[in-house]
Amino acid sequence: MPQIYRFGTPIETGALAASVPVETGQALKKYCTLEKDPQGGWKMILALQDNDVVYGLGESMRGINKRGWEYIADNLDDPNLTEDRRNLYGAHNFLIVQSDPCLGIFIDAPEKVRFDIGFSRQDRLAIEFPGNADVLILEGEKPSAIAHEFRQLIGPSWIPPLFAFGFGQSRWGYASKKDFEEIALRADELRLPLDMIFMDIDYMDRYKDFTFSKEFSDFPSFADFFRKQKLHLIPIIDAGVKEETGYDVYEEGVKNNYFVKCEDGKTDFVGAVWPGYALFPDFFNPKAAAWFGEKYKVLTDAGIDGFWNDMNEPALFYSRQGMDRLRGWLAEYAKKGPEAYAMFALENHVGSLKNAPEDYRSMHHLLNGQWISHERLHNLYGAKMSEAAANAFKKLRPGLRTLLFSRSSYIGMHRHSGIWTGDNCSWWDHILLMIHQLPALSMCGFLYSGCDLGGFGRDTTRDLLLRFLQLGVFTPLMRNHSAAGTRLQEIWQFENPEDFRHLLDCRYRLIPWLYSEFLKASVNNTLLFSPLSFVFDQDEFTKEVEDQLMLTEQVMIAPVYRQNAKGRLVWLPEAMRKVVMKPDGSVETVMMEAGHHYVPYALNELVFFLREEALLPLAKPALRTADLDFEDLTLIGNPQGSYELWTDDGISLNAPISKRLLRME
Ligand code: GLC
Repeated sequence: MPQIYRFGTPIETGALAASVPVETGQALKKYCTLEKDPQGGWKMILALQDNDVVYGLGESMRGINKRGWEYIADNLDDPNLTEDRRNLYGAHNFLIVQSDPCLGIFIDAPEKVRFDIGFSRQDRLAIEFPGNADVLILEGEKPSAIAHEFRQLIGPSWIPPLFAFGFGQSRWGYASKKDFEEIALRADELRLPLDMIFMDIDYMDRYKDFTFSKEFSDFPSFADFFRKQKLHLIPIIDAGVKEETGYDVYEEGVKNNYFVKCEDGKTDFVGAVWPGYALFPDFFNPKAAAWFGEKYKVLTDAGIDGFWNDMNEPALFYSRQGMDRLRGWLAEYAKKGPEAYAMFALENHVGSLKNAPEDYRSMHHLLNGQWISHERLHNLYGAKMSEAAANAFKKLRPGLRTLLFSRSSYIGMHRHSGIWTGDNCSWWDHILLMIHQLPALSMCGFLYSGCDLGGFGRDTTRDLLLRFLQLGVFTPLMRNHSAAGTRLQEIWQFENPEDFRHLLDCRYRLIPWLYSEFLKASVNNTLLFSPLSFVFDQDEFTKEVEDQLMLTEQVMIAPVYRQNAKGRLVWLPEAMRKVVMKPDGSVETVMMEAGHHYVPYALNELVFFLREEALLPLAKPALRTADLDFEDLTLIGNPQGSYELWTDDGISLNAPISKRLLRME
């Protein structure tokens, strides 16, 4: 039986969709030692045995097995995703301890939570959480059963429109109509499948949400041009609203007290983001949330049916108060004269202005009639922004699904939005990072997710982009995105674009199956991606497999994530069918024995594995998801097998699902 152990008076986060019996926090002692810290927080400590594995934590660094590091839930905009990072953009406080018995632990608290998973002591799991928190404990025989139960409790994962499974091209820096038209043109010329073109901040008038730069003053007809080609423009919306007299969003927000305030509850808090000084909608105030949500109308009226919400940790480059602090420090230094380390101290001071804890502490929200510091609900802010948008879409686009994904997130947001994993880099290790994050995200309900394919920061290379895409073929969000100033990363920047086209063709051929499996995972609360050990739980070795994944219980993927590798070692826990989708469009399948194998994997093919009994449908290639034929399917795999294909209309909310049994003959 799931059980909540309650400490203090937790803030209602909305993470759980089901009601769970509540006991006093002290009763948690039956599972662990419990210590109170002088600041009023708690620490729960569990012993870890040598063979125990810890899974979960959604978007976080390190491996599938989270042992051996410390992780902090504290949503942060910092693009340096190095392996020693502790906190990323999302807070997904759920973990599974595979021990005897297996435990699921969810810390439902939107402020800072520290997970020391064998970091201080290898044989200890210590979780530090605030004085107001709900600790949910699940007991089960297997990690997969616990993941399933948790997913049932947090409610069904959001289902995006079908076009969101198509390929998306993006880059920070596209600013002119020509930039966008060129994407459609080049994709057409090269016969590259494409469904989405993303619009980063440069479509706006000086980064003001819900405005257009002069270039896009006739936005509705511009959007129409793409719609006619069955392409979806997906604009970005940032959390910060530019401070500018005469800008309606700013003026209305100030007039109605819709922005986050300072400690005094009167002055608007001002921080700097892309537009310069900006104010932050108080999404915890239902009126402010509804007001901001309605602003998407200017875009939905132009036929826009998808958005990405960004900078919603919220990111603070610095604040107005921070600038005052800086002036004070500079005055100090001016008085001091040359001094050893003065330069380092100054550098640190300047660096400390970004995402400063004192700024988050000073931001205040009016929650249920009481002023409360942002610090106490920080990790929920981005999720609340997306909830505001999702609620607005119900009115703006009645009966229709709208694509939405967000950078910052908290569990619960998975019921109305997807995520992307923020600013990764064009590093080989970031392919592996995504492999590690995908199963953990599935456990936390975030089925619609993906990373910036090719890598966002730094320069990509042709082979790296191809290897990223070989993983991206399987992630629900498949988007090539890169940062301004980095090497151009569109497919046509590289030689032999037909190799890329083939991978995109593979993706589109797999969409009926991927979409069907997505529907099943959402409706049945099952994992889309899981560690091998969840499926092959009798096989001890699978606990060590950190670079292969199960995608549903029938398909195994083993992407290449090392440069110049022409293949890789793969562990087959049982005899499986290797599938190679060859560049000429043919599909080769061959049964392989259980065991370790070196499997060749060229840059221009797609390789994956099917369990012996499995059957998988492939469509004919298409240039748009709308042109995919869900009837004309080829089946690969076991000639005696069957596959239940789930489909719906791909666009309506609560669309009825139809199920069709497919067999070879
Ligand atoms: C942030 C986003 C990135 C975007 C950039 C400019 O860094 O994470 O995806 O391109 O802002 O808007």
